[in-house]
Amino acid sequence: MKISASIISANFSNLDRDLIEAKDAGVDWLHIDVMDGVFVPNITIGPLILPYCKKSTNLPLDVHLMITRPETHIHNFAKAGADHISVHVENNPNILRTVQEIRELGVSPGIVINPGTPLEMAEYLLPFVDMVLIMTVNPGFSGQEFIPEIVKKISKTRDLISKNNYNILIEVDGGINKNTLKTVIDAGADVIVAATAIFRHPLGITAGVNELLNSI
Ligand code: DX5
Ligand code: ZN
Repeated sequence: MKISASIISANFSNLDRDLIEAKDAGVDWLHIDVMDGVFVPNITIGPLILPYCKKSTNLPLDVHLMITRPETHIHNFAKAGADHISVHVENNPNILRTVQEIRELGVSPGIVINPGTPLEMAEYLLPFVDMVLIMTVNPGFSGQEFIPEIVKKISKTRDLISKNNYNILIEVDGGINKNTLKTVIDAGADVIVAATAIFRHPLGITAGVNELLNSI
């Protein structure tokens, strides 16, 4: 299992310190939640944060675009140092082209499906991507409750990947904590995203990462 720590819940006035602590505690990737206030009802950060994250930790940068017309921004994220860029299937009639463009930019492409989106929306894209990101909350905010009904979508995705022998990671994002992590790993997740459980842990970041690791 890999842990992708979402910087959205880090302390932005001490970002460097928080990210280094997360890395030292055993986090594998940094997850960058990009929101535009249109595709989702919240606005966060853009490409300018990426070089700082890279400089602090040198960890792979896992960019999750929750924006309209992501194809007009992917080159900026690639230039800023993204290693993975994942785009939603819900609002993009030419998603395959966007996925191919991400790969042409030298970045690893992923697709994302919202809780209400059936796996079938992603099925024909699987041969073209390196990762499928399954949302277990409605995108837009950290700190939301995990939606347990989505676990069967993770298992279904795992079955589809095994049946076709695809070389794809399953990432799960939203409400992951010590109580929900094991369920998603058992269902077939390879990468888990956590913001609150790491950066808002009452005993600190290291304790948050350890608690996740100890829960499986
Ligand atoms: C939700 C984001 C998630 C979220 C995770 O729109 O994509 O990455 O910030 O936050 P927690 O771990 O608090 O659910
Ligand atoms: Zn995310």
